[in-house]
Amino acid sequence: MEIIREIQAMKEWVRAARKKGETVCLVPTMGYLHEGHLDLMRMGRPLADHLVISIFVNPTQFGAGEDLDRYPRDLPRDIELSESVGVECIFHPEASEMYPPDYCTYVNVENITSGLCGASRPGHFRGVATVVAKLFNIVEPDIAIFGEKDYQQLAVLKKMVEDLNMNVQILAHPTVRENDGLAMSSRNKYLTPEQRKNALVLFWTLKAARERVKQGERSAAVLKSEAATMIEQVPECTIDYVDIVDPVLLTPLERIEDRAVMALAVKVGTTRLIDNMTLEA
Ligand code: PAF
Repeated sequence: MEIIREIQAMKEWVRAARKKGETVCLVPTMGYLHEGHLDLMRMGRPLADHLVISIFVNPTQFGAGEDLDRYPRDLPRDIELSESVGVECIFHPEASEMYPPDYCTYVNVENITSGLCGASRPGHFRGVATVVAKLFNIVEPDIAIFGEKDYQQLAVLKKMVEDLNMNVQILAHPTVRENDGLAMSSRNKYLTPEQRKNALVLFWTLKAARERVKQGERSAAVLKSEAATMIEQVPECTIDYVDIVDPVLLTPLERIEDRAVMALAVKVGTTRLIDNMTLEA
């Protein structure tokens, strides 16, 4: 297992592999790895000759007052876990390496970033697109894998790759859940045991909506209002958004005609959690 902290060294590592005609799969992460991340790595392992992950808590995707400073970190544990699923190389740069003081270039994916998390976290996707574009330029992966829990992130990155003609194939991995349904997230660590129980309302709400669509409900307004009622009943839960959107364009839908995605962002105490589920008519 190699841990590379410099951009130049990472480029050289990848060039050596490329020279031999070998392929690279990248799983970008912010570390504090959980089973969800490890599943992305397990998926990536057989898809390329080399499996590289990045661990970088990217400052440009955090807004003022968000959790950049307290975002959980545990590099020794991350190294052990990633090694156990066949990762060969971790790219773990310093923020000053990625963003030197004179840094001034950003990637802005428009339209699909205007709703959902883009509305409540201004600048977030500009930071995500920028760092992922940089990671793609540094690691030059053939394949990159992202989780569907961050549904909008996945859509934004697919659009960026399409629009900027990047030579990487983006693959999605389904959301990995705890046994009781809570979507895995590094931020679950912030929850008290009581909040951890309350946080299950995200999964239950999505499941209930999916069931209502199966039973014939087609009105997004009705489904959203039922979802909001469920969430508001749970202590310490405050809705950031409850939305039903087109699976590709992420535009709000009025009716579920075919496939739609219900996406939720809920603050449980001070921890903002997101989750989503496909609704099929
Ligand atoms: O999903 C994440 O962990 C981050 O947003 C990503 C894609 C690694 C970019 O910093």
